[in-house]
Amino acid sequence: MSRHRNIRNINLEDEMDDDYDDYDNYEDEEESEINTSGLYTYDRNSLSANYYTYLTDSGRNSPAPPAPPSSNASSSYYPPVSTAAPTAGPASAVPSSIVRNLTAPSLQQQKPSKHPNSRPSTPQAGSNLNTPKRTQQVKNLQTEAASPSGSRVSSEVDLSTFRRNQLQNIAKATSVPRKAVKPRAVEKDLINLIVVGHVDAGKSTLMGHLLHDLEVVDTRTIDKFRHEAARNGKASFAYAWVLDETEEERERGVTMDIGRTSFETTNHRIVLLDAPGHKDFISNMITGTSQADAAILVINATTGEFETGFENGGQTKEHALLLRSLGVTQLVVAVNKLDTVDWSMDRFEEIRNNLTVFLTRQAGFSKPKFVPVSGFTGENLVKRMDLSWYDGPCLVELIDSFKAQEPQSDGPLRIGISDVLKVASNQLVVSGKIESGEVEKDDKVYIMPSVTPATVKECANNDGWKHCFAGDFILLTLQGTFEPESVQAGSVIVRSGPDTLIPAKKFEVRLVVFEIATPIIKGAKSELYSHSLCMPCTFTKLIYTINKSNGEVLKQRPRFLAKGSTAVVEIETEHDVAIEAFTSCRAFGRVTFRSGGNTIAAGIVEKVITPQ
Ligand code: GTP
Ligand code: MG
Repeated sequence: MSRHRNIRNINLEDEMDDDYDDYDNYEDEEESEINTSGLYTYDRNSLSANYYTYLTDSGRNSPAPPAPPSSNASSSYYPPVSTAAPTAGPASAVPSSIVRNLTAPSLQQQKPSKHPNSRPSTPQAGSNLNTPKRTQQVKNLQTEAASPSGSRVSSEVDLSTFRRNQLQNIAKATSVPRKAVKPRAVEKDLINLIVVGHVDAGKSTLMGHLLHDLEVVDTRTIDKFRHEAARNGKASFAYAWVLDETEEERERGVTMDIGRTSFETTNHRIVLLDAPGHKDFISNMITGTSQADAAILVINATTGEFETGFENGGQTKEHALLLRSLGVTQLVVAVNKLDTVDWSMDRFEEIRNNLTVFLTRQAGFSKPKFVPVSGFTGENLVKRMDLSWYDGPCLVELIDSFKAQEPQSDGPLRIGISDVLKVASNQLVVSGKIESGEVEKDDKVYIMPSVTPATVKECANNDGWKHCFAGDFILLTLQGTFEPESVQAGSVIVRSGPDTLIPAKKFEVRLVVFEIATPIIKGAKSELYSHSLCMPCTFTKLIYTINKSNGEVLKQRPRFLAKGSTAVVEIETEHDVAIEAFTSCRAFGRVTFRSGGNTIAAGIVEKVITPQ
């Protein structure tokens, strides 16, 4: 019995018997027509407390300002983002911090191109980010900007108008000319590799040992870890400590957050994401998975342990389904701890046969590869092992055979913030991944959904490069005026212009329902996860269920969604969020739903709903 049994809250679930074969088709299906007639409305809950106080106070206690006859007039009362300086009169009542926030981007629009060979920042023809839907969203905003707004009857209306004006101006702003994208000459493609599997499968030990064998971590460090771990009675965790870096993780012998490091193989640069296996930290696993291009699923081959992880409500199935639901298609299965069963071929084959059926028929992986390893004793990691029954590639050779994603450096800027590391009132250090576009020092950006303008003061990727491109994990120092909680994990950095990201609250999602005890009904509450975002949400409409084998609509407006069903639903988040249709941005269009500590469904955003 391993060390986690006493803390693991095992939920004995039935073996999943439903078929997810058609899940692959999601990515290929055409996005349905978006409702283009609607206009955006924005919720005051998503505004910061300061905005709320200021505007509601002025709305209630002061005489209502005259209704603006046009968007321009409206903008002069509520200073628009694109106005160079605050206007006189009512605008002077706006706290200086807000004025600074709103006026900063004007510099961006007025600044002439620094580079003679500049190019527009809008996506070029062929970029899959320049979709008709995005163009329509922008048109909606522009149409609205051109039409007269109604008179304000309450402070709530003021607030929506204010926020809508902000977004209109950001969307209407001319794109900032960018210099021609010359991605760094890189010898090797980048692959973001996530390591997943049931708690205690040996993920961190396996990768720590691999890093040692690749000479990324030296023997002295491992000896030091072994010595210190032994003092805590955890000598066997020496290799795991390479990735389990926090005191609590080391004390408990459990990975709690994603461990991140990088190494190189013959053909690739690998960013390694070591996920926690314990159920309590699954949200961190989901965050890591949403950044991954490929995965290693680690299986504990010890007698009884594979069964615990696979059949008895363990995390093996949930992790595999999450990988696939979040768009990871390349998978290697590392059958680990084979030293504990004397390198038994029968055990390896038993695990391979069981898992192949599940991974191909239910999870939808086309060709998972299996490799026998021991993370503890180190066989078959970087050197092929001499085994009578296996003469295939070792783990590092399989990692090297993964294919890298084509980075979209010429698309619109999208940086998903995964961590806010340091906060001062006018400066933030954030980490995140560039999903599309490129960024460098002095760029003017916005942080969505709070619509906070900022200037990039410093920018560097993992290797210290200052001009960073799609696919890079970066550290950014941002300067601006930051309200509490206006920038957090799950926020997205964008530029102004027609290809900006418009935050919203309502979405149509195509999803697969996981193994759940209680069916999902209309009005059910859940938590929505997308990239690093976690937000309460409600299933507001169950639109239709789909036949998994042929994709046909099974039932319109079903009363509930049972386990294993595939359906299109409408969800409404508690506040505005920065997510997009999967066809616009894959990373921000993948969503997962959790409830009561379990993942209940996962899928893709089909459209962002614009309220009438
Ligand atoms: P979480 O991240 O908490 O889910 O755990 P993990 O999957 O990262 O497992 P970890 O690397 O922390 O290892 C758990 C225990 O299994 C440690 O005591 C390791 O020494 C042991 N272990 C890992 N790999 C092997 C192996 O190949 N053989 C043997 N015998 N023990 C192993
Ligand atoms: Mg671990």
